[in-house]
Amino acid sequence: MIALGNDHAGLELKNAVKAHLDERGIEYKDFGTYTPDSCDYAVYAEKAARAVANGECELGLLFCGTGVGISMAANKVRGIRAACCSDKFSAEMTRLHNDANMLCLGGRVVTPEKAIELCDIFLDTAFSGEERHARRIAQITDLENRF
Ligand code: RB5
Repeated sequence: MIALGNDHAGLELKNAVKAHLDERGIEYKDFGTYTPDSCDYAVYAEKAARAVANGECELGLLFCGTGVGISMAANKVRGIRAACCSDKFSAEMTRLHNDANMLCLGGRVVTPEKAIELCDIFLDTAFSGEERHARRIAQITDLENRF
């Protein structure tokens, strides 16, 4: 199950990605927003990030204007490693090396076609499991626990 969340500026991207997930038969839970009315990205980041953090969803996809604000908000939720990406290399490496559990995309940065491409890469790439990367992720978790 994939968690989806967005603000008004990410609505178009999310809807394009949802249609693609439907085509692929990938299940998702959409935490909104559902309309183009102006809203606050942190509200929807929290809803989707909670679902990933508590295990209800394995991974999440977030969308706002730049992908930045919604990633900042999601990363405040314990256990979330949200990565804001706009290129294929980063979308792949953040799964391989960072074991990112949420991908954040900007509706004012990437096209719907690019968003679909990035989401596919993110969802289809597994964490490498390599010791040095696991160690670095453990350091991030340790940092989170000390603040
Ligand atoms: C909304 O206008 C915009 O600020 C928001 O979607 C996002 O880009 C913030 O980081």
